[in-house]
Amino acid sequence: MTKLSVNINKIATIRNARGGNMPDVLKAAIDCELFGAEGITVHPRPDERHIRYRDVFEIRPLIRTEFNIEGNPIPQFIDMVLEIKPHQVTLVPDSHDVLTSNAGWDTLKHKDFLKEVISVFKQHNIRTSIFVDPDNEMVKHAADTGTDRVELYTEAYASNYPLNREQAIEPYYNAAKAAQEVGLGLNAGHDLDLNNLWYFSRTIPALLEVSIGHALVSDALYMGLEKTINCYLQQLK
Ligand code: PXP
Repeated sequence: MTKLSVNINKIATIRNARGGNMPDVLKAAIDCELFGAEGITVHPRPDERHIRYRDVFEIRPLIRTEFNIEGNPIPQFIDMVLEIKPHQVTLVPDSHDVLTSNAGWDTLKHKDFLKEVISVFKQHNIRTSIFVDPDNEMVKHAADTGTDRVELYTEAYASNYPLNREQAIEPYYNAAKAAQEVGLGLNAGHDLDLNNLWYFSRTIPALLEVSIGHALVSDALYMGLEKTINCYLQQLK
């Protein structure tokens, strides 16, 4: 079964719009788990425009399922992850000015750097995942870094899904096979939603986890968080 990890950044974005504590991000994390989510993902960015570093510290003791922290491994991020010790850290090559993650790592160009960072996390028994485009070469080079998993960046799948879902998923299927061949676990995320998730999860072999934020929180405006999480879980069955 593929696990659903709910990315709660968007809830923090709404809270930050007014400067108070509504909606309450900590309560949202607890409730997502209560409603069946199998993990909570946060993605603190250096400008803290979504989840703040302080939120991440406060959420940690509340988590009963799996805590996944995503981000660019700048020194401040690495220190925080080592202090918090989440179940998983997902390394994302975000630059400062992007609206959201918009590319995977070049795991050939940055192999030495990734190797070094991953060895630090491994020494602290934190599972690692590297965000990559659906490119067999990038997946294979990722394996050389010592990472446990890769997360496939699914934006291209999501945008091509309405045009031709077989074509949209092909590079992802191939990348998933490549990951299996080199012994990497597989996660996926970005722009997955109630339209495209079922086909992705039934077609991609050995998909361990999806992290979903934007669409899930948007759906919750109409359906409520509990029903929405249940709908996403149904797609993964
Ligand atoms: N995975 C990564 C690495 C991300 O940066 C994000 C967005 O923060 C997601 C998954 C979730 O994407 P979405 O919000 O589109 O579901």
